[in-house]
Amino acid sequence: MRVLVIHGPNLNLLGTREPTVYGDVTLDQVNDMLATLATELGVELSTFQTNQEGLMVDRIQSAMGNADGILINPAGFTHTSVALRDVLLATEIPFVEVHLSNIHAREEFRRTSLLADVAEGVVSGFGPDSYLLGLRALSTLLEA
Ligand code: DQA
Repeated sequence: MRVLVIHGPNLNLLGTREPTVYGDVTLDQVNDMLATLATELGVELSTFQTNQEGLMVDRIQSAMGNADGILINPAGFTHTSVALRDVLLATEIPFVEVHLSNIHAREEFRRTSLLADVAEGVVSGFGPDSYLLGLRALSTLLEA
């Protein structure tokens, strides 16, 4: 089973970015945790981070036929990107949306996700565990 992990804009700054909101774990550490869990689950993982919406769309398009599922933290694009929603619908690759913070307990504009209603599920508010829970859920779903 092949899972593509996508990290959106500013997640490359994890560890130093607003640590009171996002914690002090770096993106490399998150990816290491995911890699360990993927091995345990028998999942083949590819990871990708970008700050650019178009590159994210391109990466998802190129996942067609190459990924069975997508684990995505769309970061700021969660709340703004019609293009991201459209490409996820176009590719029909099942995806799980994750957020480190609880987007429903923050500013009003973060409570809206343009992706959540077409995601298999959403995990939000558990720091790096959101990714791990999301990967477990996606793996179970793809096995079924
Ligand atoms: C985030 C939440 C978003 O609102 C924010 O723009 C991010 C990170 C999270 O993981 O909590 O960049 O997706």
